[in-house]
Amino acid sequence: MTLKDLPNVELHLHLEGAAPPAFIRGLAREKHIDISGIFAEDGSYSYTDFWHFLKVYEAACTPLQTPEDFRRLTLAVLEESAANGVIYSETFLSPDFCGNRDLAAWRDYLAAIEDAADQAERTMGITLRGIVTPIRHFGPDKARETAICAAETAGRFITGFGIGGDERSGKLKDFRWAFDCAREAGLRLTAHAGEWNGPQEVRDAITDLGVERIGHGVRAIEDLALVDELAERGTVLEVCPGSNIALGIYPGWRAHPIEQLYDRGVKVTINTDDPPFFHTTMAREYDMLNRAFDWDEGVFRQIARTALDAAFCDADTKAKIAKKLEAADA
Ligand code: ADE
Ligand code: ZN
Repeated sequence: MTLKDLPNVELHLHLEGAAPPAFIRGLAREKHIDISGIFAEDGSYSYTDFWHFLKVYEAACTPLQTPEDFRRLTLAVLEESAANGVIYSETFLSPDFCGNRDLAAWRDYLAAIEDAADQAERTMGITLRGIVTPIRHFGPDKARETAICAAETAGRFITGFGIGGDERSGKLKDFRWAFDCAREAGLRLTAHAGEWNGPQEVRDAITDLGVERIGHGVRAIEDLALVDELAERGTVLEVCPGSNIALGIYPGWRAHPIEQLYDRGVKVTINTDDPPFFHTTMAREYDMLNRAFDWDEGVFRQIARTALDAAFCDADTKAKIAKKLEAADA
């Protein structure tokens, strides 16, 4: 078995951020929306830095206007994930882009996404779960409405609550109400932190919001006491190396702290974040990590198992995915 054939588990993927650019271009054409400015000549998404990326991301969402659009998007995204060895995926879903946080509309969008997920499970052998995600720079009031959408639809498919967007906008404690609401509804919690801000942001995510996983979290490496604390607590980092490198947080693969975090005992996982924006796939992440750190199959198998243990899905789903991972170990 080669790295390319190893089944993998992904915990950090933004559904809209995973939209193939050709899919978004086609949808824009159907709806006569001109977003040609967000594409480079070769057809890929074009942006200058993280903050511009967020704007391009939002522009790419403008043709996604109906539940049917999200059904098609989900299928396109899962097809790509499955082709890259993903057998279980958790995706961030934002009611901001699915009916403007209106609960009745959100239910319709969700039904369409779940319908696509069921179809993909039957035909492609990939299982999807959703993490509802407010967008930090849209502010705490919208996050409250988002949390209500999450709480009202918590269950087998919606298993978690997180927060993405501009980490330099506001303070995580401003979102405490939203996270408490989600926790009380039985949702598991994660937050983007320590991507653009330093170690203190990771501490804030744990102490102010009570999250059990951290989206990125890589800048924890700047405070080794925190790294040891993360290792002791068993906090799982949803690391997205290709994303960090494409956005210029680290100058290259060998400079990325994932290996140092792993070596100090932190539970790291491997994820693609917004794969077409960063010209990556799970297969490429594996390949580049193998080249940079000489990680062998054993390391990747262990990391896939860590990711499954940290997944937010129910025990039956976990057992089913575990069997698939074990079958590949044989
Ligand atoms: N939304 C989509 N990708 C993101 C990232 N890398 N950081 C914060 N928010 C995001
Ligand atoms: Zn992300």
